[in-house]
Amino acid sequence: MTPGRTDARELLAFYLDAGADALVGEEPVDRMADETPPPAPSVKPPSSPSPSRERNVANTALPRQGGERTFFQTAAPASPDAAIMAAREAAKTAASLDDLRALLENFEGCTLRSTATQLVFADGNPQARVMFVGEAPGHDEDVTGRPFVGRSGKLLDRMMEAIGLDRTSAYIANVVPWRPPGNRTPTPQETAICLPFIRRQIELANPDILVCLGGPAMQTLLGTKDGITRTRGRWLPYDTGTREIRALATFHPAFLLRSPLQKRFAWRDFLAIKKALAQ
Ligand code: URA
Repeated sequence: MTPGRTDARELLAFYLDAGADALVGEEPVDRMADETPPPAPSVKPPSSPSPSRERNVANTALPRQGGERTFFQTAAPASPDAAIMAAREAAKTAASLDDLRALLENFEGCTLRSTATQLVFADGNPQARVMFVGEAPGHDEDVTGRPFVGRSGKLLDRMMEAIGLDRTSAYIANVVPWRPPGNRTPTPQETAICLPFIRRQIELANPDILVCLGGPAMQTLLGTKDGITRTRGRWLPYDTGTREIRALATFHPAFLLRSPLQKRFAWRDFLAIKKALAQ
């Protein structure tokens, strides 16, 4: 029997329910049949210094050596552990936020990169005294390449405005800089691979105050296993790698949209941020 339009519609609805809402290729790929091991890491200069979006090769820019920038063109790491190691090595080499963005544009160790439309690196003022960090971009962020621009971003803007902040006086990023397909939660492995990059981003931005938006960002960055309801509103130390700063976790704006009664607690947290910035 030839499949009809109803079958096709039902199949699309099935894909959407399963979280597959993005086309990643024109031809199906049988990944079970692909037994070829990834090539060993190799070192060779890139054909062009501009960031490329070619697949299966991670161009990891390393520090200048003898006045020249040395490029390591490395195959996608074979295992999550190798990817975490590659991320750590790469993140260390970024001397500026621009370097870090370029590194991430070319880093192929995290598979989220291949399903996302683009990297969502940061928004706002990197010189700001306060930095907000969320979990991962959603659909609107994936389309625009800027964090927190969808519904929860609009709420974040209003909350910042209430304490005299906006995107010229705050810096905003996410732990994971690529949208997970269907807005699913990033896996622990994906988060672990992205962690060295966001830690380096915080170190390079060097804010006085770090605000974790929601439990996942808080648990990843502050290393606590407690829930957000228990930990929010408490100042905790955060070691940037060069100094200790103050960190605070608060509810994620997406949660506040679903549970508006909790906004009173977030308001307290934002007043605490305002007070800390006045010191
Ligand atoms: N939620 C996040 O955690 N980050 C965004 O950028 C948008 C929504």
